[in-house]
Amino acid sequence: MIVGKRVLLRAMERGDLPRVQRWMNDPEVLRRIYTYRHLSLDAEERWLQQMGESSSDFVFAIDTHDGTGAAIHIGTTGIHHVDWKNRTCMVGIVLGEARHRGQGLGTEAMHLVVRYAHQELGLHRVELEVYPFNQPAIRSYEKLGFRLDGTRRAATFREGKFQDVLVMSVLPGELLSA
Ligand SMILES: CC(C)(COP(=O)(O)OP(=O)(O)OC[C@H]1O[C@@H](n2cnc3c(N)ncnc32)[C@H](O)[C@@H]1OP(=O)(O)O)[C@@H](O)C(=O)NCCC(=O)NCCS
Repeated sequence: MIVGKRVLLRAMERGDLPRVQRWMNDPEVLRRIYTYRHLSLDAEERWLQQMGESSSDFVFAIDTHDGTGAAIHIGTTGIHHVDWKNRTCMVGIVLGEARHRGQGLGTEAMHLVVRYAHQELGLHRVELEVYPFNQPAIRSYEKLGFRLDGTRRAATFREGKFQDVLVMSVLPGELLSA
């Protein structure tokens, strides 16, 4: 468990998957992430199994506390495509419900993920990809010290057109507090 001030990261469990599946099939989430498939619960279960067996992927559930102090599951995050020789990885994050966004919870969760990648896994370059229209996400990453590496022009075909993808990264020593 990785504990922050307002969120904590924990292992994702099978029981989390129906919620995750609902979030990942929400068109407003789907258009912001790389996956374009609508995934069944079976597919999500296979994915979790694969993640658990992989040495280059680490997935987490993001929990926060409600007004009564009870833990609530609000999102997922993960470290993927770890390259142990070059010490690089990709990261991703989703807060499933709109009502939990815009309060700094995702930014804090991403801070914990990057810190874990740098300080526990010994990784150097932590990279992510984001669509230019996803300004809240870009702003969240900038607040944490991610820098724009460049634009992969027309790298994806989405919503009937080719769209650019921005590549951002953060190195140890550049990570800022959430
Ligand atoms: C991207 C995401 C993880 C950011 O986490 P967050 O907790 O919402 O981030 P923050 O609250 O720190 O907000 C970041 C910026 O979003 C903007 N924002 C303002 N209101 C917002 C709202 N209601 N919802 C989302 N973003 C909002 C603000 O510009 C804010 O920057 P500021 O603090 O300088 O004002 C989260 O919004 C999310 O899961 N979005 C949907 C899925 C997604 O886009 N994932 C990333 C794919 S690359």
